[in-house]
Amino acid sequence: MTVTIVGSQLGDEGKGGVVDLYGDAADVVARYQGGDNAGHTVVHDGEKYKLSLVPSGAVRGKIGVLGNGCVVNPETLFSEIDKLRERGLEPDVRVAERAHVILPYHRVLDGIEEDEKQDLAAGTTKRGIGPTYEDKMGRRGIRIGDLLEPEVLRERLEYVVPQKRALAEDVFGVSVSDANGGSSDESDGAEVGEGFDVDHLYETYREYGERLAAEGMTVDCGTFLQERIDAGENVMLEGAQGTSIDIDHGIYPYVTSSNPTAGGATVGTGLGPTVVGQGEVIGIVKAYLSRVGTGPLPTELGGVEGQTPDYDGNAPADEEVLATYIRDEGGEYGTVTGRPRRVGWLDMPMLRHAARASGFTGLAINHVDVLAGLDEVKVGHAYEYEGEELLTMPPTTEKWGRCEATFRTFDGWPEVDWADVASEGYEAIPENARTYLEYVADELEAPIYAVGVGPGREETVVLENPYE
Ligand code: IMP
Repeated sequence: MTVTIVGSQLGDEGKGGVVDLYGDAADVVARYQGGDNAGHTVVHDGEKYKLSLVPSGAVRGKIGVLGNGCVVNPETLFSEIDKLRERGLEPDVRVAERAHVILPYHRVLDGIEEDEKQDLAAGTTKRGIGPTYEDKMGRRGIRIGDLLEPEVLRERLEYVVPQKRALAEDVFGVSVSDANGGSSDESDGAEVGEGFDVDHLYETYREYGERLAAEGMTVDCGTFLQERIDAGENVMLEGAQGTSIDIDHGIYPYVTSSNPTAGGATVGTGLGPTVVGQGEVIGIVKAYLSRVGTGPLPTELGGVEGQTPDYDGNAPADEEVLATYIRDEGGEYGTVTGRPRRVGWLDMPMLRHAARASGFTGLAINHVDVLAGLDEVKVGHAYEYEGEELLTMPPTTEKWGRCEATFRTFDGWPEVDWADVASEGYEAIPENARTYLEYVADELEAPIYAVGVGPGREETVVLENPYE
């Protein structure tokens, strides 16, 4: 059977911990969208592993698959695999031949276009994700399978690279001979300009193809996964990012370029919707909201300069204090930049939208410990929009920006020994926290499968194992 893991907010809901928790019972963990924009940390045998592309299950001896809906940067892929090998692991990673390849020019163009867009910029990770999906839809992309066939690779590059060079130089006015060629190591001056050079790209990516072939890493994803399911194995379909940054169902244009919602799990792997639908779809919820980037956020507390629209430090002082408390307790600071993330109360219209779009069969609610110690905890229960009550997100981001959240208030819960709570079970969770959790489950009409009460996977209260 399959279990699909979907982020129900804006990414960073703690999906990795849930994948880790339930992944033990899985034989295969497959990602179905996104690329190396999805950072996750896995702790295994006391060791920390930071990954952005390789599915976390690969650290635990599972087969990790990058589905056809993913966009794959081979440089990141092999660097992560090599680092895991240096640390004594033997990750078994397979890549769909139908997955699209992120090339250096995609990364360069991602940066150029973000700078050009200014207020419309999504604050992308600059990994070339959007430009690669653009080329996929424009039918000018290069797929993993093409790396295995040198003539096809050259033909595709000869067609597309001059267009990319013209786009950078003639449309955006940026000389690509000065642009970094896409190496993740920005100090690598040798790469300058090579990201737009057909011969260089051909040699480099042909070699990646040779390595993929030599290590037997490529698969016909749908067939591979279906055969496993038919043999009675358990497959986990691991979504990256979250529903509100889904290209179709998110706050367009401040979104990523793929479908983190459960529909993505079928098109992004080649498994039929009936196969995915027979399994479980678990919505991962963070007990409050956090967000990196611009755009509206109706339940925001306080604000962050440069991200909160029109913010000039004018939020009420008590809100700022609360925001700082949640930010500090939840570690809501960028892992690379240290920049504070925007935080807010739970947004129920956002969650109802996510539950409907993916059809959640269960919920995992994380970071309940972060809110402990507050006198009261609020949730944005509904929105008021032009005199009407809305229970779900409106379809445009502009309308969303005109929504005012209407709140419900819950009594707070105390700080307790969360490790004890995790070992004792659900009833050990403070009563007021349980009232809060049960409100969420009732509103979303989905049962609670797990409650995260701390960062480690042992700090999780498990109510249901979807594979049992
Ligand atoms: P892209 O995916 O790099 O194109 O970025 C598009 C938007 O998605 C930006 O607002 C990113 O901050 C956001 N984003 C991409 N990946 C993640 C993630 O893993 N967690 C949270 N936000 C993300």
